[in-house]
Amino acid sequence: KNAPPEVHYWIPYLGSAIDFSLNPIEFYAKNRAKYGDVFTYTMVGRKFTVCLGVEGNNFVFNAKLADVSAEESYKPLTTPVFGKGVVYDCPNHMLMEQKRFVKWGMSNDAFRAYVPQIVEETEDYFKRWNNETGGRADVFTAMAELIINTASRTLMGPEIRAIMDESVAQLYHDLDDGFQPINMFFEWLPLPSYARRDSAHVKMRNIFMKVIEQRRANNETHHTDMLQSLMNQTYKDGTPFTDKDAGHLMIALLMAGQHTSSTSATWGLLYLAQNPELIERLLEEQKDVLGSVDAPLTFDALKNMTLLDNVVRETLRLRPPIIMILRKVVRPVVFPGSNYVIPKGNYVAASPLATQVDEQYFKDAMKFNPDRWDSLKKEEDIGDDGIDFGFGKVAGAGGARNPSLPFGAGRHRCIGEPFAYVQIKTILATFVRMYDIRLTEKGLPEPDFTKMFVQPKLPVEIDYKPRK
Ligand code: HEM
Repeated sequence: KNAPPEVHYWIPYLGSAIDFSLNPIEFYAKNRAKYGDVFTYTMVGRKFTVCLGVEGNNFVFNAKLADVSAEESYKPLTTPVFGKGVVYDCPNHMLMEQKRFVKWGMSNDAFRAYVPQIVEETEDYFKRWNNETGGRADVFTAMAELIINTASRTLMGPEIRAIMDESVAQLYHDLDDGFQPINMFFEWLPLPSYARRDSAHVKMRNIFMKVIEQRRANNETHHTDMLQSLMNQTYKDGTPFTDKDAGHLMIALLMAGQHTSSTSATWGLLYLAQNPELIERLLEEQKDVLGSVDAPLTFDALKNMTLLDNVVRETLRLRPPIIMILRKVVRPVVFPGSNYVIPKGNYVAASPLATQVDEQYFKDAMKFNPDRWDSLKKEEDIGDDGIDFGFGKVAGAGGARNPSLPFGAGRHRCIGEPFAYVQIKTILATFVRMYDIRLTEKGLPEPDFTKMFVQPKLPVEIDYKPRK
C-alpha cells in the first residue's frame, strides 16, 4: 500500500497555503479532478490529507481514537485560550463527560427561558439604528455585538451580561486575537497578542469563578444558565469538576459559540436581503404559527416555524463557519476501500463544505434555496452512526454520511447546535419583524476563507427600512 498522492507546490514550506486559503472549494475541486477523493497537500510545513466526499467525512469523523487525535491537532490553539484540564487538554473520555455537563445546560426548559431574553436583547440592540428613516448598516458588526450580548445573557449568566460592556468585551477581544489560524502554526512566536491572550485568560477565568463563589455564598439556585449547570458536576469516577474547570469550559463555550453563530446569523441576513420574498414568507409563517407578528415569540412557536428552520439550515449548508476539521494521525491508517496508508504525523482533514456544495447531493448547489429541505433528509432524520458516548446520544447527532454536516459528526460533534439554532432563529425572527432589508449595489459579499471562521469579506453592509 502507498501514501496518498501529493499536490505539487512551488513555494517551499508554505506549500499550498495561499492557493488553499484563497478558495478551498476550488482548490479541492481542481485537485480532486487530478488525484481523486484522497490526496495530501502541504501548508506551513505540515501535511494535510484531505478525505473528500461522504465516505471521506465518515472516515475522519468516525476514525478510531487509537488512529487519530483531535487533541494533537487543536491543542496548541485551544489550550492557552480555554485553559488546562478541559476540551483538548484532557483525555477524550473526560471531554465526553464535559459534553454531558454542557448538555444539561441546554434543556428545553432553559431554552424556554432564553427565547424572550434573546428577543429583548435584539430589540434593545437595534435601538442604535436609524428607526425613523432607515439607512445602511454593517450587519457583521451588529451580529457580532448582539450575539455576545445574547450568549452572555443566556448561557453565561446575568452577572456576566452586566459587565459585558465594560470589562468582558475587551477580555473577549484579547482572547479572540489569540484564536486565529496563525496561532495554530506559530505557537512559538513571541507575539504581543499572546501576552494579552494569556492575561485575558486568567482574568476571564477568575470572573467566572467569582460569580460561582457568589452564587454559592448567597445560595442562589434559581439560575437556569450554563454556569449553574457546570457548578456542581462530578466525573463518573468521582473526580470533582472544579470551579476552575468550570471557568475554563465556560471560556471554551464562549469561543466555540461566538464566531460560529455570529457569522451564520450574518450570512442568514445577507441571504434574506438577497431574497426579500423570503422575508415576506417568514412573516406569513409567524402569522400562521402565532396568529400575529406582534405576539411574543416562544421556543415552542419557533419549533413550528419550518421555513425559518430551513433558512438557517440552508445558510449553514452554503456557508458553514468551520471548513477544516482536523485530526492528527497517531498511527498509520488505511483509507477504507483504497490502497492508501496515511502516514503517522499527517493531519487528516474532512471538508463538509465540499459535500455541501456538491451537485451530486444538492441540485443547483450554489443557489440559496431553503425549500429544498422540505424534501431532503435532515440530520436528525438519519440518526447516529453509532458512536457510543457512554451517556446516551448527543442531541441531534447525525450520521456522518449525511452530505450536510455543518456541526460535524461522531464523538467530536458540536454540542451547541440546539442552542445555535434557538439563538439564530430568535434573532432572525425578531429582526424581520423590525426591518425590511436589501443588498446594496455591491451585491452579496464573497466569503473570506483566511479567517478561522469563514466570514463575509468586509464591509458587510445592507440597506434597511424600519417597518413601524
Ligand atoms: C464542535 C460547528 C456553535 C460548542 C463543533 C464541530 C463543528 C461545530 C463543525 C466539530 C469539530 C470537530 O469535529 O473537530 C458549530 C457551528 C455552530 C456552533 C456551525 C453555530 C452555527 C456552537 C455553540 C457552542 C458550541 C453555540 C456552545 C455553546 C461546541 C463544542 C464542540 C463543538 C463544545 C465539541 C468539541 C469536541 O468534542 O471536540 N462545532 N458550532 N458550538 N462545538 Fe460547535
